[in-house]
Amino acid sequence: MGLVTLTEVLQRAEAGGYAVGAFNCHNLEFIQAIISAAEAEKAPVIIQASQGALQYAGLGYITSMVKAAAEAAAVPVVLHLDHGTDFQQVIRCLRQGFTSVMFDGSRLPLSENIEITRKIVDIAHAAGVSVEGELGRIAGTEDHIQVAASESFYTDPGEAQRFVAETGIDALAVAVGTAHGVYRGEPHLDFKRLQKIRELVSLPLVLHGSSGVPDEAIRKAISLGVRKINIDTDIRLAFVGKLREELASRPHEIDPRKLLAPAREAAREVIRHKMRVFGCSGRA
Ligand code: 13P
Repeated sequence: MGLVTLTEVLQRAEAGGYAVGAFNCHNLEFIQAIISAAEAEKAPVIIQASQGALQYAGLGYITSMVKAAAEAAAVPVVLHLDHGTDFQQVIRCLRQGFTSVMFDGSRLPLSENIEITRKIVDIAHAAGVSVEGELGRIAGTEDHIQVAASESFYTDPGEAQRFVAETGIDALAVAVGTAHGVYRGEPHLDFKRLQKIRELVSLPLVLHGSSGVPDEAIRKAISLGVRKINIDTDIRLAFVGKLREELASRPHEIDPRKLLAPAREAAREVIRHKMRVFGCSGRA
């Protein structure tokens, strides 16, 4: 099928009232787990790579692997840059063939965030690529980006309206109580704020830090306009947990494939479950 843009899959999600899963990848096995889950569920899917993942695997490797996977897949696949904080990196991803980029200017003063995001939107749209922006600051650790709880703050609905109007972005990441990484207690989402944001902006909303958020809360967020849901930690936990088990139970195994395949399978099952909760199964 080949790669499609974020806008394409999110427009369909908006019309159908569901959300599309955006799963982080770092290597071949994660890409295979994501694609095979999407095919099994007949779901559109967003494969995203952070700057840290690109540093680890190489931009060319990630792009080529995802493109090859998308061409062979029977479902629509988006290749998205997660939390791009560096203008040059965003442009390199555009040139490589990413079909969507996130510019995360959430650490910047609002006017600066608007200015840089607007510039990226101009360039990306000219190249037919979608853009996700972020307003508010999501707590926790996502690869090299660390935000302490004291530095984090929720998205202001009025500012969101201005941000969307002045930047021309295609999707907005909001901070409404989720955090990147493993939660210490149960996360509580500020649904009233989400609803207010939704009333003021009509574009698809993005929920980051969605691992560990109860299924019911996810469903409610979808009913309030969340159309892209980011999952990284839950896949890592499944993959590494299974890998540890395999290493412990087979200490003499030296074939990496025999150790990695069950871990890949564990990751795939978690992804399939998420797709069902997001309502994107059967939508491809
Ligand atoms: P989790 O690691 O909490 O799933 O968050 C992923 C994310 O939001 C990537 O941007």
